[in-house]
Amino acid sequence: MYVIGGTASKTVAEDLAKILKKPLANTISKRFPDDELYIRIMDDIKDEHVVIVQTTYPDPNLIELFLLQNAAEEAGVKKITVVIPYYGYARQDTKFQEGEPISAKAIAGLISLNADNVITVDPHKEHILDFFATSAHSATAIPEIAKYLKEKNIDMILAPDKGALNRAKKASEIIKCDFDYMEKTRIDGETVEIKPKNLDAQNKNVAIIDDIISTGGTMAKSIKELKNQKAKKVYVTCTHGLFAGDAIKKLVSSGCDEIISTDTIMSNFSKVKIAPSIVKLIK
Ligand code: R5P
Repeated sequence: MYVIGGTASKTVAEDLAKILKKPLANTISKRFPDDELYIRIMDDIKDEHVVIVQTTYPDPNLIELFLLQNAAEEAGVKKITVVIPYYGYARQDTKFQEGEPISAKAIAGLISLNADNVITVDPHKEHILDFFATSAHSATAIPEIAKYLKEKNIDMILAPDKGALNRAKKASEIIKCDFDYMEKTRIDGETVEIKPKNLDAQNKNVAIIDDIISTGGTMAKSIKELKNQKAKKVYVTCTHGLFAGDAIKKLVSSGCDEIISTDTIMSNFSKVKIAPSIVKLIK
């Protein structure tokens, strides 16, 4: 077996190779003068099972994944496992209006062309796994995030909406603390409304857990609500830290005490490693 890391997921690939005790393939990547991507796998991977690790966000990383898959196929590998730490386009998982694509399905179809097995992490909704024409499974970051939070004396885990309640419950079971959720209504891609809810947050250390932080709007509103309810410390945690636009500024100015994300998307807040959650599925 060889682990092959795309440029978006070098750290996760290195960690996986270390845990699996398998070699990390040497790759070369550069840009042609017109900005098209060139990649090359330097090792002899013929007849090997290869694990290609690449987050598919933003778009150029998706192209890199397609090229790595094709390079592996052309090299005559035995099996391709594609690990997608963050699967971009997963939120357009249905046709919300006539004329729209089902983006999660379109991208899954293309990835499936050169994959025997797909593994992703905390997809926005599990049903997107069915869009892959090959076997597809999801890992979850919750146990690793909960492990990190255990050191913080957390009294309550909060889901920013009812849909994320299970996630909060799972984390609370590991931490052994209370859990609850906020009442969220999404107005549009950038605006959410969080209804105040009596949460019994006074003087408590609260961690809000979500799958994605994008614009930070959901978290910022939740932090403010918790601060209004006199929470002592508010931690925001997510699996996938997209931190679009001025998300970080929003979170900080809302009064959060710490921002925690995994390394499915690398940022200054990637404090939790995702490889240990993924490795069980590869084994
Ligand atoms: C939505 O259902 C997701 O779980 C997240 O709550 C959402 O993607 C966060 O987006 P934003 O940071 O833009 O509020």
